[in-house]
Amino acid sequence: MAILRLVAEGVGPFEKLDLDLSDGTGNPHLGPHIVAGVNGSGKSTALRALAWALDDAGTGFDQGEWWHLIKGRPNPRVALFFGGSKYAGLVAVREVTRHASINISTSWVERMLGQNEGFKRRYLGGSPIASEPNQFLVHRYVLWHERIEPPPLVAAYAPSRALKHLEKPNPAQSRSDPRKDALAFESTVSNEAVQAWLVGLFSKSAIAAKRRRSPEVFDQWLTDLDAGLSAIFKEEVHIDVDYDTPAIEPRVRLRGEALDFSQLPDGVRVLLGWLADFMNRLELAKSEREGVLLIDEVDAHLHPRWQRCVLPALRAALPKVQIIVTTHSPFVITSCREARVHVLERDGNAKFRARPPVDAPFGQSINATMKDIFDVESKFDPQTEEELNEWNRLKRLQAARRLRPDDARRLDELTRVLSERSEELRLIVGAPDGLASLVGGVPESIR
Ligand SMILES: Nc1ncnc2c1ncn2[C@@H]1O[C@H](COP(=O)(O)OP(=O)(O)O)[C@@H](O)[C@H]1O
Ligand SMILES: [Mg+2]
Repeated sequence: MAILRLVAEGVGPFEKLDLDLSDGTGNPHLGPHIVAGVNGSGKSTALRALAWALDDAGTGFDQGEWWHLIKGRPNPRVALFFGGSKYAGLVAVREVTRHASINISTSWVERMLGQNEGFKRRYLGGSPIASEPNQFLVHRYVLWHERIEPPPLVAAYAPSRALKHLEKPNPAQSRSDPRKDALAFESTVSNEAVQAWLVGLFSKSAIAAKRRRSPEVFDQWLTDLDAGLSAIFKEEVHIDVDYDTPAIEPRVRLRGEALDFSQLPDGVRVLLGWLADFMNRLELAKSEREGVLLIDEVDAHLHPRWQRCVLPALRAALPKVQIIVTTHSPFVITSCREARVHVLERDGNAKFRARPPVDAPFGQSINATMKDIFDVESKFDPQTEEELNEWNRLKRLQAARRLRPDDARRLDELTRVLSERSEELRLIVGAPDGLASLVGGVPESIR
């Protein structure tokens, strides 16, 4: 299951935003889809528009904040087109109109689909907006071909340090509704629910093994979480529990140390929060591990080296989930081979729009990405420019196997000098990563 297309009108800086989230030929594409652009180009608006179309009772979407993004617009509306297996043909529509009539959007959507085939409509309710007496909030799903239950699982996140050490994770605080607060962005991750879920997985796995049943269904989530964490640390990391404490407590095991959640470096804490919270929802939704994960500002709080690992980590941990993120970091944009990049920009008429999507410039230099995506020349000081040019010339000689011993020594020296000068240069010249520099915020004890 995946979202194929998002069309939004009259939201934030957009008169019209049309995001093609397919593979370019109309088939589902799990991404990661990277919505990129400078500050104020509408990245957060795009994700919030998507969430607004799906907002329902209890999903925690911040209507108050959203209201500012559509204020003054005559007819803000959003349509989401789904595809893949049983969700093919599902269209979610939401709009604010001056009429209580529900027929307007249906023809708008039918025009976009280029057909008038009979929609089966299900109106999910609308309500007048108290502060704007002439406007009505009309909310509905338009179902095409067949009724679809349960609705697709979509959860939206922003960077959050919600995970922290809990003295006694309480199994009674586990989550029962996968959609509860799923569209709350900053407060979607629930520390209590995540820890209760992790402790529950270990308990169920142990009980299953004791009864000689397969613990595989529980262990698979833990294996996937380990895969995500290991991809960001670039070495083996395990989620584990301590049971010689007053209560069973989750831990992250790394290099023989067992860290509680308050001891985790910020980047890992944020990533683990997203992953564990979303997996908990996936399990409850019984959706065969399929769903849509939205993350606004996926790079925030992350050291540039971790920005390069965050999408591969999410991809490794959630292989059947469509991932849609926003970022303005060139490190994220160049990090993942499968990614599609959607650049938001101002066109010649000073209107904001989305450029047609392209495959991610995987492996391209940060410099080139800054120029291509943001139209920014990344200028270094003259000495650095000169040394980079020399480094480039020697690299080409090396590739052509024409590097003399003197040149090889000079290349090594330049690689070292440049990589010590700045993080950006270190990434350009590709000096090898070491864990010590990777875990910038990790406690002294495990450095
Ligand atoms: N109601 C509105 N009418 C017109 N423009 C708006 C409205 N609300 C927000 N904007 C514009 O949208 C921009 C915010 O976009 P946002 O999605 O936060 O960008 P990003 O996440 O890329 O930084 C604001 O800078 C403002 O110019
Ligand atoms: Mg933003």
